[in-house]
Amino acid sequence: MDLKEQISKARMPRHIAIIMDGNGRWAKRQGMARMFGHRQGVQTVHNITEAAAELGVEYLTLYAFSTENWNRPKEEVDALMILLVDTIAKETPTLMKNNVRLTTIGDLSRLPEETCRKFKECIAQTSANTGLQMVLALSYSARWELTEAVRMVAKKAAEGTLRADEIDEQTVSMHLTTAGIPDPDLLIRTSGELRISNFLLWQLAYAELYFTPCLWPDFSVEEFYRAIIDYQHRERRFGKTSEQVI
Ligand code: IPE
Ligand code: IPE
Ligand code: MG
Repeated sequence: MDLKEQISKARMPRHIAIIMDGNGRWAKRQGMARMFGHRQGVQTVHNITEAAAELGVEYLTLYAFSTENWNRPKEEVDALMILLVDTIAKETPTLMKNNVRLTTIGDLSRLPEETCRKFKECIAQTSANTGLQMVLALSYSARWELTEAVRMVAKKAAEGTLRADEIDEQTVSMHLTTAGIPDPDLLIRTSGELRISNFLLWQLAYAELYFTPCLWPDFSVEEFYRAIIDYQHRERRFGKTSEQVI
């Protein structure tokens, strides 16, 4: 039986988050510059987004550029920003074809003006699409996001529009950049690193984690199916006993 047929439609993760890692190492292995890996990584984004849309996944959050990635050499950061602009131009028709709605999380004010403008255009153009919601994490880190949330909540408390004893988990969730989006069910990280790297720290509280040594440019639709099948064999207990959840 092929992999796709092993996927149960009834147990599809609603929200998949991916730390797309390993572009640089992939390029280096073939004696190429890091950007070669990033460009190939865009092709993987294209393939995985199409596969997720086709499977009926509701949300796909992709970690594309972290707050910490600003500390990379300027040439790489600049080239990545240009790649983002080119990619939007090239991929918007595919998003439309697949009924995908693009959104972003992160501190977009740090992006170059043109990059930011192109994203806003694509977000507007795809806003009425009703299929997969693609959430691109750009200039994002969970600590940045949580700090912003604390700032907003503190401001409301100081203004008297929110009482400190009213603050609950929902208040926190509502002030995150992911407000309104259900928490990820499955987190995939490629490239063999076993860490979260400042991604969705609050939202991943009960996500199932899937790590693969595969480098992002090599991450195929079959690998993606494998991760989903693995997820579907997990027992999600949310603190309860096994007997309670079956
Ligand atoms: C992930 O690949 C893409 C970004 C972080 C922008 P890397 O560029 O981190 O690739 P490695 O980890 O150095 O191989
Ligand atoms: C995580 O990858 C961020 C993205 C994939 C955008 P990194 O390559 O930046 O993570 P570390 O530095 O290895 O933890
Ligand atoms: Mg990396």
